[in-house]
Amino acid sequence: MSKQHSDVTGEQASVVYLDGHFKPREQACISIDDRGFLFGDGIYEVIRVVEGRPFLGDAHLERMDHGLNTLNIRLPDAVRTRIPDILNELIRKNRIETGQATMYIQITRGPAQPRKHFHPVPEATPTVLISATAFEPNIKLQKNGAHAITVPDLRWMRCDLKTINLLPNTLAAQQAREQDAFGAIMVRDDVITEGSNNNVFAVMDGTLFTHPDSPLILSGITRNVVFEMAETSGIPIKKEPLREADLFLADEVILTGTTTDIQPVIRINGREIGDGRPGPVARLLQKGLRRRMGSS
Ligand code: PDD
Repeated sequence: MSKQHSDVTGEQASVVYLDGHFKPREQACISIDDRGFLFGDGIYEVIRVVEGRPFLGDAHLERMDHGLNTLNIRLPDAVRTRIPDILNELIRKNRIETGQATMYIQITRGPAQPRKHFHPVPEATPTVLISATAFEPNIKLQKNGAHAITVPDLRWMRCDLKTINLLPNTLAAQQAREQDAFGAIMVRDDVITEGSNNNVFAVMDGTLFTHPDSPLILSGITRNVVFEMAETSGIPIKKEPLREADLFLADEVILTGTTTDIQPVIRINGREIGDGRPGPVARLLQKGLRRRMGSS
């Protein structure tokens, strides 16, 4: 059995960007009045970096803009337009021009005192944090397939926004870890929504099924790449809710995400999926994603 988790998280790169300044990670501090800290009032993104280039950076920043607009967090134009340059600058400063990394962006509504649930007037200045971490995909697990568990989806009704409120996701991930599984697949009203930090696909008779875009899931950037690759390869896609029981009838189950890549799932709740090995659709998508990332 492949190890379901790597114990070492990526080596921490040391320079971060916080509110207009590049500084050593240890010296980057946020206010105790920050609404991200107090209320989870913010948005984040995780962007993959391959050989010094943010992969699908524009799509991530577009989704970030959508989240900020929806929450009415107004990032000054001067800051927003600098973000692509800040990403490149952090790649250089952290010497991750080669190999792979992830960039983390978190933007909160900013610090406001006294603590009130409603938004501060005048508006607070949003807090902008951007950091970089070296990253190595778990190639072995991607090759051999992973174990997953199903858990109840305890989240709110705006899962389409990539907010920093991840408590249900972290609890689900912890449950998976305690059962030595790679991931947790969330189930709401008997319907598979998504993984705790990835989207879920099932292959049935050659068709790829996944939950439709809705407030119940995050429309993943990797999920969109899967749609494009499936179209190119002539694999039919059906955006339809799957029931939990359907997973066990599927030929393949696949998780997708910025740090998950294309991860075949070979066992769920201890039951084998398909023939218990990664299937041909997962293989094809893995190849396609690697080619697109330029890391094949
Ligand atoms: N998570 N669904 C959820 C709930 C997620 O948190 C993520 C990503 C995805 C996949 O989206 P994308 O393909 O755009 O990465 C789906 C990031 C990586 C995280 O929280 O670390």
